[in-house]
Amino acid sequence: MEVVITVDEGAAARVVAGIVERLLRTTDQPVLGLATGSSPLASYRMLVEAHLAGELSFAGASAVLLDEYVGLPPGHPQGYRAFIRHHLADRVDLVPDRLHGPDVWTDDLAAACVAYDRLLDELGGVDVQVLGIGSDGHIGFNEPGSSLRSRTRVKTLTSTTRADNARFFGSLDEVPRHVVTQGLGTISDARHLVLVACGSGKAAPVEAAVEGPVTASCPASVLQLHPHVTVVVDEAAAAKLANAAYYRETYAGKPSWQEL
Ligand code: GLP
Repeated sequence: MEVVITVDEGAAARVVAGIVERLLRTTDQPVLGLATGSSPLASYRMLVEAHLAGELSFAGASAVLLDEYVGLPPGHPQGYRAFIRHHLADRVDLVPDRLHGPDVWTDDLAAACVAYDRLLDELGGVDVQVLGIGSDGHIGFNEPGSSLRSRTRVKTLTSTTRADNARFFGSLDEVPRHVVTQGLGTISDARHLVLVACGSGKAAPVEAAVEGPVTASCPASVLQLHPHVTVVVDEAAAAKLANAAYYRETYAGKPSWQEL
């Protein structure tokens, strides 16, 4: 795991956007895993700007969603497919039918979850998976207690997560209770995991994920088991990291031949 501590949220977004840009420029038919939430938004804006400047194309890429609410009508603005379309996919040259997400509108959710994992395999796996982190340590919608080897499945949101996400809805009552999320095992199949977290509210979950024990009680701690992880945090989100000085020294002294 490499931890990159940046001066602010904009610099963190620059690092994340840079990783995605390198993937798109150097890989034939890249598969990009996209997180929702506010954390990756600044990096998505940078990717859109690079595309509009004629510097970046998504034409050969596929994109896959990490998770989706169950119970919202198709096209609901807070649905995660709509969110990703609005903030990224519809603003770049990604081929529309190469944006994939779990089918949460079927009567057979269990079969849709299996089908989604199969689809990820058929695409050849995810090259770069962008992740945020919830205040309770979740990634995707894998709430505390999620099996570290779980596959895509239905989960029930904690009251903490529903309260956190209520800001996107008219009221807490409108936040769905159920979701389909890639499992921690599914997420771990991606070749490169890039977690971005900014602000003091993320300091505790970042500390638990990066330096705490590997435990289902902090789902993001599963990142410690993955061979290629980049955690990008601003100063505020890094505030509780015991080894911050080492992370800074490592990144500052990174040889030019060594990429993130
Ligand atoms: C939701 C998403 C997660 C995201 C989390 C944090 O729960 N399912 O993928 O990481 O929110 O959101 P934010 O980045 O807005 O803090």
